[in-house]
Amino acid sequence: MRKAWQLCMVVGCLALASTQLRASGGESPGEARFLDDLLARMTLEEKIGQLVLVSIGPSHPRDQVVSSIIEGKVGMMLNTVVREDIRELQRQAVEHSRLGIPLAFAFDVLHGQRTLFPIGLGLASTWDLPAIALSGRVAAREATADGLDITFAPMVDIGRDPRWGRMSEGFGEDTWLTARISETLVEAFQGDDLASPDSLMAVVKHFALYGAGEGGRDYAPAEMGRRQMREVHLPPYRAAIDVGAGGVMVALNSIDGMPATANRWLLDDLLRDEWGFRGLVISDHGAIGELISHGVAADAEQAARLAIQAGVDVDMNSEAYGPHLGGLVGRGELDPALIDRAARRVLATKYALGLFDDPYRRSGLSAEDALAFDDPSRLHRLEAREVARRSLVLLKNQRETLPLDRKARIAVVGPLAKSQADVLGSWSGAASPAQAVSLWQGLADARGGEEGLSYALGANFSDDPLVVDYLTTYSPEVKIDPRPAQVLRDEAVAAAGDADVVVAVVGESRGMSDESSSRSELDLPAAQAALVDALESTGKPLVVILMNGRPLTLERQAGQADALLETWFAGTEGGHAIADVLFGDFEPVGRLPVSFPRRVGQLPLYYALVPTGRPVDPLHPGKFTSRYFDVAGGPLFPFGFGLGYTDFSLSNPRLSSRVLPRDGRLEASVEVINQGKRRGSTVIQLYLRDPVASVTRPVRELEGFKRVTLDPGERTRVEFSIDPSMLAFYPGEGPLEAIEAGEFEVFLGQHAEDGEPLSFTLRP
Ligand code: BGC
Repeated sequence: MRKAWQLCMVVGCLALASTQLRASGGESPGEARFLDDLLARMTLEEKIGQLVLVSIGPSHPRDQVVSSIIEGKVGMMLNTVVREDIRELQRQAVEHSRLGIPLAFAFDVLHGQRTLFPIGLGLASTWDLPAIALSGRVAAREATADGLDITFAPMVDIGRDPRWGRMSEGFGEDTWLTARISETLVEAFQGDDLASPDSLMAVVKHFALYGAGEGGRDYAPAEMGRRQMREVHLPPYRAAIDVGAGGVMVALNSIDGMPATANRWLLDDLLRDEWGFRGLVISDHGAIGELISHGVAADAEQAARLAIQAGVDVDMNSEAYGPHLGGLVGRGELDPALIDRAARRVLATKYALGLFDDPYRRSGLSAEDALAFDDPSRLHRLEAREVARRSLVLLKNQRETLPLDRKARIAVVGPLAKSQADVLGSWSGAASPAQAVSLWQGLADARGGEEGLSYALGANFSDDPLVVDYLTTYSPEVKIDPRPAQVLRDEAVAAAGDADVVVAVVGESRGMSDESSSRSELDLPAAQAALVDALESTGKPLVVILMNGRPLTLERQAGQADALLETWFAGTEGGHAIADVLFGDFEPVGRLPVSFPRRVGQLPLYYALVPTGRPVDPLHPGKFTSRYFDVAGGPLFPFGFGLGYTDFSLSNPRLSSRVLPRDGRLEASVEVINQGKRRGSTVIQLYLRDPVASVTRPVRELEGFKRVTLDPGERTRVEFSIDPSMLAFYPGEGPLEAIEAGEFEVFLGQHAEDGEPLSFTLRP
């Protein structure tokens, strides 16, 4: 830190110094003086105005928002995503409000802005942190070029119950993997210096446990002990904060009876005191007002008081802080220091973003505007294709069905085959579906035209009136073909009859895996399942391409398909990326970041289970063991699983020593051989287990992975370093971690059920 200061004294770069100091949690003297001076000149109303984040919409028409900006009643904006619009709103704030304090502009840039990358689950499936970083950097460049300062991302809620539709946005079930992706994306969004014109401030969300809602229902309470929170759910948020995430968004759910938005333990004791977070805490959309429905506030005024006292700095679209904080202070019912504290954090954020130096830092000059906000020249198609093809997970490939012969006659069927909107996934509001590549288009481009390709819809997404009503109400792009299901299927079967191979593109429309889209069943909707049945009965080689935002229960289709490829929602270049893999121009390299259940009744299902006193032996399940007697145990596809076009075998696992010294390390290694006929890569995963500890520990936990790429017949030894910090856990409810001496097990494998244990001892 001193080095940064010295450098800055020489070159006079106050901004750099302030950012460096902020990242370590403090204000530089220059920033402190600036903020002191500004706050001293602000009225109480103006300070409260800084805590208000609004978006223009039916309840906040533009004219009304502009008047509020001029009156100093708005501090931040959401959902304005065009540079010209942002510049104009900024001009109103800077030129017409009394103190000219710039606004900060936020948007949900989750997996891209104009160019969409794969959804969170897809990014996680790459098991490739540089590729994920590339997606984040491109997103930041495009979003800042649109004039945005802040993204509400990354979303790092651990998802272990795929009934929850927002699992699509996160990075799966694993704490360690999610934490690595979390820090990777924060660094990619923010760059080295938050004040840079292409740096986008990250607001990690949803703090905390939003993914742990009961029964996978969105917004539902999360109930668990603090030890489990610390062990499983909190590390990814912490990882984002440790690398300097500028903001935290508070979750919508309650935790052990207290909504996160009013939760002093969560926001004050844990986040501020224990973790030392100095950045901005933002409510989720309308969440302060929702304290009334949660049943902890009688009205918006009480809700506002609870939220600010708990430590929520910014009110996103609740209309709670603006109208009520002033009155509370005026009547002596709220300490004005709380308003000062929150306003200072908002101003410090704008300072760090460089907005006081230049409010148009990101929205730029009109002379530099692109021809149109969605001008094709603004897209990063190469990068999107590169990342998307790494996100595809091959789940089955019998009789070398894939890769396909490029000249084969292909029947392309299913409700997702030609869809450009779905392939983008959720949170893609700034992207244009017309610029997205459907699989149909991708296949045609790869073959130089549509000749030899035939198409049939085959089925609507669903025939269930409840589902159809949900989709057509909330996903306007979903069109239902009114013809009878049998007619649609017959058409697909006829197309299959004339083809060499069938490619069925089935799954979910993007609106089925989104906010507020919990499902009680995870089967392929019956209409699509019937289509797959009909296609199977043609006897033609059947390739099932899945597009979906959560693990589905696919036992039946996994049996029917000759090849099964999970593509999630792969983004703007999805169709090209999938075609690359189907024709073998690119090896499938993705691995599942989440377990696929066989039946919905197994949920929650994840690999890092804590053992019971009556564990089940899969080969001899028996009675009085912890299992469902009506379904074969375990997942259909385990965490970490994925195939390529070649086969790898692992042998001779070794530890460099049977003893791990307290202050040392040991090496675990395994020999990997490419036994197949093609060059390819695999992901070797390191799992650890602590079989005897003071509290019960998971049957395994991921602690590392490495990708190896080998030619046919080539072999190599893949090595991991193990040190005692990897054995740490929380033995109690408090913040202290322990590393307990004893025996440990190491597993090296290609998925969470692979590999035989090796053991070592950690000395006391
Ligand atoms: C979501 C957040 C999002 C916010 C703003 C909310 O409904 O829960 O994830 O950031 O809206 O769009």
